[in-house]
Amino acid sequence: MDKERFVSQTASRPNDDMVTEVPPLPGNANGLESVYLPIRTEMSSVESILRKELSNEVPFVDELLQHSWLLGGKRIRPAFLLLAGASCGTIREPHLQMAAALEMIHTATLIHDDILDEALTRRHRATANSTWGNKISVLLGDYLFTHSFHVASLSESCEALRMLAVASNRVCEGEMRQNAWQGKFDLTEAEYLRMITEKTAELCGVSCRLGAFLSGASQEQCDNYESYGRRLGVAFQVIDDVLDLVGKPNQVGKTLGTDLVNQKPTLPVIHCLQEMNPAAQEEFKTILVDRTSTCDTLMPYLDGTGSIPYARSVAENHAKGAIEFAKSLPSSPAATSLRQLAEFVLLRSH
Ligand code: IPE
Ligand code: IPE
Ligand code: MG
Ligand code: MG
Repeated sequence: MDKERFVSQTASRPNDDMVTEVPPLPGNANGLESVYLPIRTEMSSVESILRKELSNEVPFVDELLQHSWLLGGKRIRPAFLLLAGASCGTIREPHLQMAAALEMIHTATLIHDDILDEALTRRHRATANSTWGNKISVLLGDYLFTHSFHVASLSESCEALRMLAVASNRVCEGEMRQNAWQGKFDLTEAEYLRMITEKTAELCGVSCRLGAFLSGASQEQCDNYESYGRRLGVAFQVIDDVLDLVGKPNQVGKTLGTDLVNQKPTLPVIHCLQEMNPAAQEEFKTILVDRTSTCDTLMPYLDGTGSIPYARSVAENHAKGAIEFAKSLPSSPAATSLRQLAEFVLLRSH
């Protein structure tokens, strides 16, 4: 078989020069600099892979890919993978390739999510859909999805690829479920938690599992790392849903209020409805479906039932187990960062 045919001209190969250039950490990772310190060099290598992979000889394709690469997010999923890997072994090239692949998958889901949410801003920039329209943005997301598997395949681990594929499917299932549930305001907290586990926690879980797996961890250790990532993934999405209601747009860097506009029931709203008597529920539902309502319109109701602090407490409960796990790890800078990352997830404002 002509093996070269399956290695793109841009793809990174073992022993090539991909780690020689060290760009700075992404701009939106502010507040995370000290957490990323034990993996700083590796995070820079992941940026180099992304920069190299997300370029193309066709100028228009290159422009689109540059947009998705330049969209410097927090890079939490690569950090999960690298910190998990470093806390139980040594980081090698497959870790870097898988971390870059994970970030591409995540970015693809954001590009598609922004189409669904008709969002205008992402990572402090205009979204792909608001710049090039939905059709091109669907294709850009598809490209990132497919290319991520190309990059992941460079790790030459079938098992790792399988994990990534299963998790990616679940993310899509969660997004499908959420979109099917638009306007379903009788959603239960359990249904909501299941949906966010799929759309968000799966990718965080598999990031941690992959880091440990590629470092040669046992099955049991891999399970524990995955469970750490999943718990934090749930907490991360609950806080994201709180920020969608109460966040500051210039801090969060993306269009907020989209859950209300798209009638996606999130935990504060679900809790608020649960706490109300039937008459108040009907009044609140009228506001939820009213196109002129804003987050400010919802706030007196959410305040009345303590639904924002309630949602934060649910996030804290999920993060608690993750913090305990991080504390139980043999002491190392990476283990400390895993604990700090859990704290960041709860306290984040972006
Ligand atoms: C946003 O994820 C989507 C959710 C799962 C809530 P991030 O908040 O990690 O986005 P970036 O990568 O930092 O932009
Ligand atoms: C997370 O949900 C999106 C994915 C997991 C793809 P959100 O819709 O809450 O994400 P944001 O708020 O747009 O980043
Ligand atoms: Mg969205
Ligand atoms: Mg959101």
